Amino acid sequence: MSSEITDQIRGALETQVEKYILDETLRSAVTHLLGRGKLYRPRLALATYESIKGETEPRLIPLVTPLELIHTFTLIHDDLPCMDDAALRRGVETVHLKYGEAIAVLAGDALSDMAFQVLADPGSGIGPEIALRLIAVLANATQAVVIGQVADIEGEGRQFSAEQVANLHRRKTGALLGACCQFGAILAGADRYLETTLEEVGIRLGQLFQSRDDLLSVVGDEAEVGKSLERDFVLDKSTMLSVLGAEGAQAYANSLTNELQMAIDQLNLAKPEPLLTLTREAHIRTK
Ligand code: IPE
Ligand code: IPE
Ligand code: MG
Ligand code: MG
Repeated sequence: MSSEITDQIRGALETQVEKYILDETLRSAVTHLLGRGKLYRPRLALATYESIKGETEPRLIPLVTPLELIHTFTLIHDDLPCMDDAALRRGVETVHLKYGEAIAVLAGDALSDMAFQVLADPGSGIGPEIALRLIAVLANATQAVVIGQVADIEGEGRQFSAEQVANLHRRKTGALLGACCQFGAILAGADRYLETTLEEVGIRLGQLFQSRDDLLSVVGDEAEVGKSLERDFVLDKSTMLSVLGAEGAQAYANSLTNELQMAIDQLNLAKPEPLLTLTREAHIRTK
């Protein structure tokens, strides 16, 4: 996806923050991280749309930003001292270190509310029926992420099975990526069968994405990745790495990637390449 698109996503996020976050302290806290990430989630929604329709639609950008707003909210809360207690995020200090814990909690809350304000805007041009479907998809996914985060906390200091870790990843990371694919499908006018199939592709992509993240804890460079990488070990988290070891986690990522590529190929999409590109981006090759 072109850097022009990522710039446009960043621009839409800025405009929306100005419109919806009316308090200066809060605005400053929410913009601290917003736009600094890889923007994988809104890009995945746009890629899904493009794969179905065979062409891009830049006018949809303001409708896929809510996926990034929810993601950033979960990261701000994920980094809090009561959660992963992380100091570095997206190359800068975490929101609670810069603004204090209370403002960090509230910044996460504000981003979450804002995601739904954006979708409920009657001026968005999609009509109430589609808006309501997107709102339901995003609310359900957010609830699943929260449940996944509960499982992640419960997995600290315990030895989960690979199946339990895979299930936790389906929720904490997969649910929102599933919603991204559903957004693309709904906006492209796909039927329910294709929407559900693509949701599952997104969830599996989330599992791949999270296995990459787990492996980055050992092979990644903190300055390059831009976030605290030692927290999984310090907190004794249940991850694909702790359960399968580095080689096992790499083999798991390889087989998930193959499975995903086959699943996407079998969908007979107008242009599978955008989705295949994002699959490759979620894959890691450690050796
Ligand atoms: C980080 O997500 C959290 C995980 C689910 C692994 P990203 O790797 O997409 O982080 P940003 O959004 O680019 O910062
Ligand atoms: C973050 O998971 C996923 C969510 C915020 C839901 P992690 O705790 O594994 O991700 P990082 O390593 O902090 O980005
Ligand atoms: Mg976490
Ligand atoms: Mg974390």
